[in-house]
Parts: sequence; C-alpha cells; structure tokens
Amino acid sequence: MRFAPRDTLVGIIGLGLMGKSIAACLLAAGHPVIGYDTDPARRDETLPAVRAMLDELSREGGLATPVDTLLQGLTVAAEIQELAACRIAFEVVTEDLGAKREVFAALEGILAPDAIIASNTSAIPITMLQQGLRSPQRLFGVHWAEPAHLTRFLEIIAGDESAPAFGEHLHALAGRWGKEPTLVRRDIRGFVTNRIMYAMIREAFHIVESGAASVEDVDRSVRNDIGAWATLAGPFRWMDLTGIPAYGAVMTDLMPDLSNATELPRLMRDTIAAGALGTANAKGFHEYTPETAQAWNEAFRRFSMDIRHLQQKYPEPRGDDGP
Ligand SMILES: NC(=O)c1ccc[n+]([C@@H]2O[C@H](COP(=O)([O-])OP(=O)(O)OC[C@H]3O[C@@H](n4cnc5c(N)ncnc54)[C@H](O)[C@@H]3O)[C@@H](O)[C@H]2O)c1
Repeated sequence: MRFAPRDTLVGIIGLGLMGKSIAACLLAAGHPVIGYDTDPARRDETLPAVRAMLDELSREGGLATPVDTLLQGLTVAAEIQELAACRIAFEVVTEDLGAKREVFAALEGILAPDAIIASNTSAIPITMLQQGLRSPQRLFGVHWAEPAHLTRFLEIIAGDESAPAFGEHLHALAGRWGKEPTLVRRDIRGFVTNRIMYAMIREAFHIVESGAASVEDVDRSVRNDIGAWATLAGPFRWMDLTGIPAYGAVMTDLMPDLSNATELPRLMRDTIAAGALGTANAKGFHEYTPETAQAWNEAFRRFSMDIRHLQQKYPEPRGDDGP
C-alpha cells in the first residue's frame, strides 16, 4: 500500500476555500491530483487559484519542480466518476452530514476497495461518518488547517471502524506533504485542536459578555501572549519551559471560575443574526471597511508564509533532541 506521491493519484471532492489549498499542497508534494465540485464556478476558479498558491510557494523557494510542470498534474473533473482511479479521495465539501454522506456513497460506487477516503470534517465524529458505509474501515478524518499549502498542522483521526494500516499509510505520506501529523487514535468530538480552540473561544466570549474586557483587549492579550509562543511550544512544553508547579496552583484557583456554559453566547448569536461573515463581507466582531477587511485578508496570507518560515527553523524535536 506504500507508494511515492507521484504514483499516488489523489482526488479532492469540494473545491472551495480548503479544497483548493489542499490541491496546491498535494501537487507541491508531487501527487497527481483530480478535483471535483458540483459548482461549475468553483471548478473554473480552481486552476488560477492553485497556480497563485504554487507561484507563492515557488517565490519563497519552497518548490523543487517548476509550477507549470506541477500544474500538468492537475485535472478538474465535471463528474465525480472521473475520480475512480484515485488511491486517496479527500472529501472537502460543506460541513453538513448529508452532503458528506452523499459524497461517500458516490465514492464507494467508483473507488477500488482498498482506496482510502479522508474527510476534512471540522467536528463531525468520524464514527458517525462511517455509519452506513460498505467499507467503513477505509474512512479516516484528515483534518487540515487553512491555508493547507503553507500550514504544518494535520490531524489524522481514526473512527471506531477505521483500519490502523490505512492510518499509518496516511501518517507516513503526510510527512511528504510537509506536515507534522498528529494521529488521533480515539474518535473524540472536535479532535485535538478544535477542542482546545473552542474552550478558548468560549472563555473569550465569557470575558467580553461579563464586561471585564472588550473584544479588542481580549484579542490583543491573546495574540501577544499565547500567540507569541504557541508556534514554538504546545501547552505541555510551555509549562515545562516556564515552571510546572505554578500552573498547578493557578489551575486549582482558576478552574472553578472559568466558563463552562453550554449555550451559544448571546454576542455570537447577535453577530450571526446581523449577517456577519467576518472579513469575507467586512462585518465581524471588529469594525471593517471593505479596504481594511481586504488588508486583513492579505496580512493573514503574508503572516501564514512568515510563520511557515519560522516553523521551518523550529521543527519538531525527534527523541531527546532539542529544537
Ligand atoms: N475553512 C477552514 O478553515 C476549514 C478548516 C478545517 C476544516 N474545514 C472543513 O473543510 C470542509 C470544507 O470547508 P471550506 O471552508 O472549504 O468550505 P467551502 O464552502 O469554501 O467549500 C465547500 C465546497 O464544497 C462544494 N460541494 C458541496 N457539496 C458538494 C458535493 N456533493 N460534491 C462536490 N462538491 C460539493 C461546494 O460547492 C463548495 O465549493 C468543511 O467540512 C469544513 O468544516 C474548513
């Protein structure tokens, strides 16, 4: 089951925001890629968008192969049946159980029995996605972070029925995609980072709604404290670096005070009801004009590249090696 990327045709179903950057990542790693989306507009956007991402990687010296050569490996299909020869099919459609199940049913009808199906779901349990499949053992969660051609994050999540051999294969390949993958062996809702991020977001709403600090102040604190170290160290390394007992003492005092609300915060409900999509429509928790929203989108793109360079200076230590 182990093949080099160039011998492993991969399919991407859903060419929205993430599907395109996943396509760029896999092409850059040497895979031939075939993408499919039900929306013709998304299909038409794909080649120029992927070209722009590969150009960006090339400008930064991140590609060994010319962009035009890599793009020869990209096919955009108008029918899902054209993905029949894929060894791995990445499902990247809308976060909706029905939509994902429809894609899996179509894939089961066309793929070889030992081809892998990988879902980029953000939070639907993988075991739930496996229900009703003819070959549930080949379905895994493969959870990317945007922009997927630049980020080092990848979670590979086993559902109750997943066969470990497929997970190990994905884990080995992910190194070739420039990732430092995490294998999530038990199907916990939200996987690892979403659980941690949503715990933080819940607390952020709690602080704002209690009147203790503004949206601007919460964002400023988080980006200048956690944001300043989290690319080097996860929470456990951070405690190792800065003295463990103090964290034990603070946890004892603080935990009863942290939010454990289970309802969507009012501020979130009101913001969604007002039609805010964030920088996408210049309406969010912060104030934007179309120009400042665009400037933030561009800053995010530049920052992702800068962080990628910084991360490359500090790879994950192996064994007892330091960074
Ligand atoms: N955006 C992120 O940062 C992010 C991060 C991690 C995971 N995800 C997950 O990735 C998935 C896609 O997210 P996105 O942000 O790219 O969404 P998106 O809305 O930008 O793209 C989804 C695409 O799926 C297409 N689609 C819908 N049904 C389809 C079908 N049956 N067959 C083929 N194509 C179909 C749509 O036309 C659309 O182009 C979601 O499950 C999301 O939760 C997103």
